[in-house]
Amino acid sequence: MTLLEEIHKRRTFAIISHPDAGKTTITEKLLLFGGAIQQAGAIKAKKTAKFTTSDWMELEKQRGVSVATSVMCFEYKDMIVNILDTPGHADFSEDTYRTLTAVDSVLMVIDSVKGVEERTKKLMDVCRQRDIPVITFINKLDREGQNPFDLLDDIEKSLNIVAIPLSWPISMGKTFKGVYDLDKKIFNSFKKNEDGTFISTAISDIHDDGFVAQIGDDLALRLYEDLEMVQGVLPAFDHAAYLKGSMTPVFFGSAINNFGVVNLLESLLELSPSPQPRQTLERRVEATEPKMSGFVFKIHANMDPKHRDRIAFMRICSGTFIRGMKVKQVREDREFKVANPLTFMAQTRTVMEEAFPGDIIGIHDTGAIKIGDTFTEGEMLTFTGIPSFSPEIFRKVINRDPMKSKQLNTGLRQLLEEGVIQLFKTVLDNQLILGAVGVLQFDVVQFRLENEYSAKCEYQPFDLAFAYWIGSEDRNALIAFQAENKSKLAKDAEDKTVCFFKGQWELHHIQKNHPHIHFYKTSECKPQDLVG
Ligand code: G4P
Repeated sequence: MTLLEEIHKRRTFAIISHPDAGKTTITEKLLLFGGAIQQAGAIKAKKTAKFTTSDWMELEKQRGVSVATSVMCFEYKDMIVNILDTPGHADFSEDTYRTLTAVDSVLMVIDSVKGVEERTKKLMDVCRQRDIPVITFINKLDREGQNPFDLLDDIEKSLNIVAIPLSWPISMGKTFKGVYDLDKKIFNSFKKNEDGTFISTAISDIHDDGFVAQIGDDLALRLYEDLEMVQGVLPAFDHAAYLKGSMTPVFFGSAINNFGVVNLLESLLELSPSPQPRQTLERRVEATEPKMSGFVFKIHANMDPKHRDRIAFMRICSGTFIRGMKVKQVREDREFKVANPLTFMAQTRTVMEEAFPGDIIGIHDTGAIKIGDTFTEGEMLTFTGIPSFSPEIFRKVINRDPMKSKQLNTGLRQLLEEGVIQLFKTVLDNQLILGAVGVLQFDVVQFRLENEYSAKCEYQPFDLAFAYWIGSEDRNALIAFQAENKSKLAKDAEDKTVCFFKGQWELHHIQKNHPHIHFYKTSECKPQDLVG
């Protein structure tokens, strides 16, 4: 098979949702269809929905499973599907955002009862900043949810994306009859055949007596009215707008009942893009280029402290990766032999022989790899778009054992490189401030510092709401701002300057008084990451 054919048959995407919308259930159903797992419950077992931070040890015990579910790869009808897990419950962290830098598209799951929720907004912010194509699945149609028009409106207003239904639900909850596929003109009934599959019928005319008899006069009338609105008021679905990330096609179903999930997968394979070109500092890299290139977006530490063994997850961006290949780690300008790269087929890690653009491979690492590292066959390239994301929770770090400062610093540096946490040093008095997106990360850091580096630290609350990177086209204005606001400034691990804010009011006040200073939500300081 040619490289181009390998690329065309691949789809790499992440599923995003607010906790409890049904992401795990959908993932599991998709893996079942793909034959990657044999029974429902295999993924669910790793979910730690109701755990508290003190249960982190329990999470560690399950790490074997969670490594395997970080990437799930399976074949479906000659296509290769790579699903990247976005940790969502207590394990929500910067990793969740970073995963979105390694996919070509996203499946967004929304609970029909609750509508768009807070976590979805945050994740969609990152998708919208990167123009990632998004397909929407409105789940739990078996429950009495919100009116579908209200849900579409909610998506448009809350997420700033045009939502166009490609299927339409016929009622919901107790009277849920099924969905009508607007594109293929098929009625997918919520009733099952004897073999357990759902009944699907092609409907050439929705006024057809047989169809009306199935759903009843009242619901038929409502469907006609709804479709008149959909077709009359909403714009037609535009595939190019979807690919640009400005329009999302919407499907309805019920994951727990396995209803609508196969259709969703097939639509996703049909609509979503195959592995896309990627930008480097030097040039754009096409997936079809024969030479291999890739970047690391996640590092997973092994729980065994005796072997500081880690797995770096690399997305292949171009060319063919072959086992045993010598590649260049660009940051260090050194050769790196990848003897036993891992693939994540069928929930187990196996050594892979070759990988293509869109694939994710696992590389054993003993501490040499950093998040964002680029690997090539020799060319000095640096992939962009894998920044640090603005943390949301902050703590001051206090060293509890002054004899172990060196260990503390080494440990913190390593954990920073793994992307577990962010560290800032205040400009005025060199205080060490940790920043994270999920609160569990602080416990993880404390535990790992103690277990892996014999360093003890404790935390003190640090009254901070946001940390944004700063920049300006006006060099003098930037220098003046920094001189005036030293007490608010800190340096990140890359020595970039961030500004601390105690709340929205302070941000507004400073933005108003310093119109030439820009504040950014990521360390890359790109225009799309500007704080509004
Ligand atoms: P998440 O990964 O997004 O957090 O959600 P998950 O799939 O775990 O689903 C959250 C809850 O919603 C689960 O119930 C799941 O069974 C339920 N659910 C998923 N899809 C549907 C659906 O189509 N209809 C209905 N009515 N419920 C659905 P739970 O009680 O928290 O867990 P469990 O006891 O069922 O495992």
